Amino acid sequence: MKKTILCIGAGYVGGPTMAVIADRCPDYKVIVVDKNEARIAAWKSENLPIYEPGLDDVVKRARGRNLFFSTDVAAGIYEADIIFVSVNTPTKMFGAGAGKAADLQYWEKTARDIIENSDRGKIVVEKSTLPVRTAEAMQRILDSNPKNLHFEVLSNPEFMAEGTAVDDLQNPDRVLIGAMETPSGQKALQDLVDIYSHWVPREKIKTANVWSSELTKLVSNAMLAQRISSVNSISALCEKTDANILEVSDAMGMDKRIGSRFLRASVGFGGSCFKKDILNLVYLCEHYGLPEVASYWEQVVLMNDYQEARFVEKIIRNMFNTVAGKRIALFGFAFKADTGDTRESPAIYVSQLLLEERAHLAIFDPKALDNARVDLKDEQGHIEYIDDPYEAAKGAHAIAVLTEWKEFAAYDYQKLFDLMEKPAFIFDGRNILDHQKLHGIGFNVFPIGQKALTHL
Ligand code: UDX
Ligand code: ADP
Repeated sequence: MKKTILCIGAGYVGGPTMAVIADRCPDYKVIVVDKNEARIAAWKSENLPIYEPGLDDVVKRARGRNLFFSTDVAAGIYEADIIFVSVNTPTKMFGAGAGKAADLQYWEKTARDIIENSDRGKIVVEKSTLPVRTAEAMQRILDSNPKNLHFEVLSNPEFMAEGTAVDDLQNPDRVLIGAMETPSGQKALQDLVDIYSHWVPREKIKTANVWSSELTKLVSNAMLAQRISSVNSISALCEKTDANILEVSDAMGMDKRIGSRFLRASVGFGGSCFKKDILNLVYLCEHYGLPEVASYWEQVVLMNDYQEARFVEKIIRNMFNTVAGKRIALFGFAFKADTGDTRESPAIYVSQLLLEERAHLAIFDPKALDNARVDLKDEQGHIEYIDDPYEAAKGAHAIAVLTEWKEFAAYDYQKLFDLMEKPAFIFDGRNILDHQKLHGIGFNVFPIGQKALTHL
């Protein structure tokens, strides 16, 4: 084997990324470590800890050949030439910057683990999304090692999205690598370029300075989220004016300068990155004395909160101003389709608001029920988790669609209608159902940013 690559953190980012690197680079040994034993056991089993289309095949091809999973962080560090760090960097919930800044405690702990278990210099790659200039802090901690070893810190942000992670990794729009503009930085950068060159065309591998690379990740997510918040803000206006958000986004998206993606109005965006990264950006701007820039970006998050709350208000208002004691079937709990991940899912906030109004929730999701149980474990009220959409809808007054699972459009809505209380309502928070057809069956249909179709 040419070199040993280690990844610390076997989560949504580390796991799939390393599986694809091992698959595409049989001449490298790839070890993935995590302190979470259950997670590592799952990576070694038939039941991987995360659901991602195509991931099983990639893992099966490489596992045991040049891809290994372990809980022995120290041994992994000792053996590695290149260390990717993809531990979690959640929003800090205490002290200075609470609610906005990134909590870097896992990061710093990792830096100290690296020093302790190294007997030679190594390349350390930031894979987690981090505030700009984190690499500097990392470099300082690593440089403080008593053995005088030289560590080189690179930034290589991940742009894959959940649900399409394997394809995003195999056919990336670009790979971004940031390095210090020193001879040793440039040499380390070349080592990383060599890895990606196994399958990514050279012109798609972008190199930059570390700070640009760190900031690009935050800004890419902020820009994408901003498009969704922009279109969601207009969905509210559409509902007042009989304009149709689908027609508006379609026509607008055909302008090449705008482009069609990330203009789908919804109940709100979720996921582990968008909110966290924007708040991170807001905090950085405040830190650098740029309050106008900070509040500009903060508005993207506030608009998302508004869209989620607006969705629930619409449910309550149209169900005769009360949902107390009424069964509401939630179709979807994941933050997007094709994943079981529920981090920052709009479904969490929507559920909390509905429970406050004393609604009875019947939650159905093809992959996310276990996570939903954890998310709502502290909530008071009546909640059922049901693995069948027809069971969930039985006796319900309303269905609320919260995730854009394709299969939701293929259900037998006549059957669902027959099982429900009347008048039966559908609130389509993802605009994925055939609204005319539902109206024909007898439903009162409330899409996002389009005229409601009712019988009342
Ligand atoms: C995102 C970035 O896309 C990815 O590059 C980064 O590395 C991590 O964060 P992810 O969180 O997996 O990826 O999901 P993404 O596909 O971006 O969707 C985010 C949220 O926006 C989802 O809740 C999705 O349903 C919502 N969304 C997306 C919309 O509401 N409308 C759209 O048009 C697109
Ligand atoms: P992401 O979506 O960014 O991949 P996850 O939370 O899914 O985030 O994964 C991060 C992983 O990092 C978790 O499985 C966690 O147990 C692991 N982790 C955090 N700190 C350490 C550490 N010091 N050593 C090893 N693993 C760690």
